[in-house]
Amino acid sequence: MQPDSSAPILDVAGLSVRYGKVEALHKAAIKVRSGQIVSVIGPNGAGKSTLLNAIMGALPVSGHAKGAIAFRGEDVSAVPVEKRVERGMCLVPEKRELFSTMTVEDNLVLGAYRRKRAGERDFLDQLEPVFQLFPRLKERRKQASGTLSGGERQMLAVGRALMGKPDLLMLDEPSLGLAPLIVKEIFHIISALRQTGVATLLIEQNARAALQISDYGYVLETGELVLEGAAADLAQNPRVIETYLGLTKKVA
Ligand SMILES: Nc1ncnc2c1ncn2[C@@H]1O[C@H](COP(=O)(O)OP(=O)(O)O)[C@@H](O)[C@H]1O
Ligand SMILES: [Mg+2]
Repeated sequence: MQPDSSAPILDVAGLSVRYGKVEALHKAAIKVRSGQIVSVIGPNGAGKSTLLNAIMGALPVSGHAKGAIAFRGEDVSAVPVEKRVERGMCLVPEKRELFSTMTVEDNLVLGAYRRKRAGERDFLDQLEPVFQLFPRLKERRKQASGTLSGGERQMLAVGRALMGKPDLLMLDEPSLGLAPLIVKEIFHIISALRQTGVATLLIEQNARAALQISDYGYVLETGELVLEGAAADLAQNPRVIETYLGLTKKVA
């Protein structure tokens, strides 16, 4: 874990979101430091996607955010989503938004489009590292992405995000709808990302899997962050165990 003294790469404070008159997020405060995996766990409808979309500046038109979002020390709360991407923020949304008729490789190349347009000569330099991280994608590089399994599609969505070489990767429920063995594989890979130096903000309903690979965690319930702490401590917290981890099961 990074020492707490290092400046956070993401520092969110007093972030509230409304959809019309309904407040979906109330004064959220979150910090992520480089090289860390931070998770936000919470049930369906708690406001997890709202939180991520607001940080990314990608709320639906009916959503209005207020509050401070500092990325690498600069306030980005008024910065449009494309510019947040340019600065190194990246969101893999709940809907993976792959181009299903395009091949795996072409989807990955598309993930580097912004870097290409910015004139970066080595814009494809993450292709091999991504293939190393996801050997299944390499095997299927010429296959149309629509023919992939759910787990492989999730891997492709994460791989495509990594092609842009982000400093902060935000993942909205990467385990959603996947079989337990595949969830394990995906989380193992997310955990391995730590070595690349990327910071990860992980939103999950699967509290057990998320806390196991995280440094720090937050619990979001009906729009409010009600608990936070080192992930290992949260996993031992009686309230977390009762509500999110089940009474009888212990975290390994
Ligand atoms: N576009 C929207 N318009 C109105 N209400 C919304 C919209 N998106 C989400 N909500 C509401 O905001 C709350 C939080 O939703 P969401 O952030 O998707 O939760 P989660 O990702 O934790 O399941 C829910 O009550 C949901 O109905
Ligand atoms: Mg959601």
